[in-house]
Amino acid sequence: MNIDELKETLDELKQKFDKKKNNIDDKESWNDLRVEFLGRKSKIKDLFGLIGDFEPEDRREVGKLINDTKDYIQKEIDRLKEKIEKAEDKIKYDLTLPSRKRDIGKEHPITSIFKLSKEIFSKMGFDIKKGPEIEEEWYNFDALNIPISHPARDEQDTFYINEDKKVLRTHTSPVQIRAMLEENPPLAMIAPGKVYRSDSIDASHSPVFHQIEGLLVDKNVKFSDLKGVLYKYLSELFNESSIELRFYNNYFPFTEPSAEMHMSCIFCEGKGCKVCNYSGWIELLGCGMVDPNVFEAVDIDSEKYTGFAFGVGVERLALLKYNIHDMRYFYENDI
Ligand code: DAH
Repeated sequence: MNIDELKETLDELKQKFDKKKNNIDDKESWNDLRVEFLGRKSKIKDLFGLIGDFEPEDRREVGKLINDTKDYIQKEIDRLKEKIEKAEDKIKYDLTLPSRKRDIGKEHPITSIFKLSKEIFSKMGFDIKKGPEIEEEWYNFDALNIPISHPARDEQDTFYINEDKKVLRTHTSPVQIRAMLEENPPLAMIAPGKVYRSDSIDASHSPVFHQIEGLLVDKNVKFSDLKGVLYKYLSELFNESSIELRFYNNYFPFTEPSAEMHMSCIFCEGKGCKVCNYSGWIELLGCGMVDPNVFEAVDIDSEKYTGFAFGVGVERLALLKYNIHDMRYFYENDI
């Protein structure tokens, strides 16, 4: 080989390299290129081995020619590597990509009713009380004037925990008893929480649901105080200044007299619609004046004190407030 032939060979090599380098777009193809053009078995390596075949006075030039080509290839190889690495980084950390959409959810309607109710009653001076969900029979029934033979024990489809006379509380009313044993009157409290009944699930029943119990005990508490407090609570909860309440005679063992309270339908303003079954009224809660037998169980003098109590189903409130037609939606985790 003479110098001209060498130059031609180097030119061809360069052209071949230039053509191939355009197709390099990942580490693997980059490495193949590097091995082909700079590796132990590369053409360049062969050419270096041929320097000794040239005339001694030409060897310098020959060496330089081969080296220049090698340097060119080496630089291009390095540049390509940098380019590929940058591209890979971009894939890992492309800050310009839109972020993945996440459903973060929102407050559960039951939670919202609890929060609102706590706010409204706190403003009226009521304390917020808690009681255990696994409750002793005495608090859940006996102290509330529901003796063992009382049909209400069957009516409330209780989950019994056999040992220790414990039950899953069937209502939040036992928290009344706990509050009155803890504190002397005057006292005013609400008890929001979960309750359990052995019911099967349908649009308006669930074995677990929520109630808010209310109790106020003081000297001279009258049924009209109960009416006033319930009016204030419901008009604020539903944001309606024009609701009407009516009270029907009813029976609960723990109140005397007892009543069920109906509220004028907030959807049709009493005209009659599907929600209120075309009656204009919605049955909302049970209430009454604390029965003297209950006061006796907690050692409060019923000659000196009177009180009112009420219990309301939170699912019912949430269905109405958020215009939902089936209780099962509350438990299905569908945002
Ligand atoms: N505990 C009753 C229930 O679960 C609701 C209730 C009615 C509570 C009247 C009261 C009340 O405090 O006075 O069905």
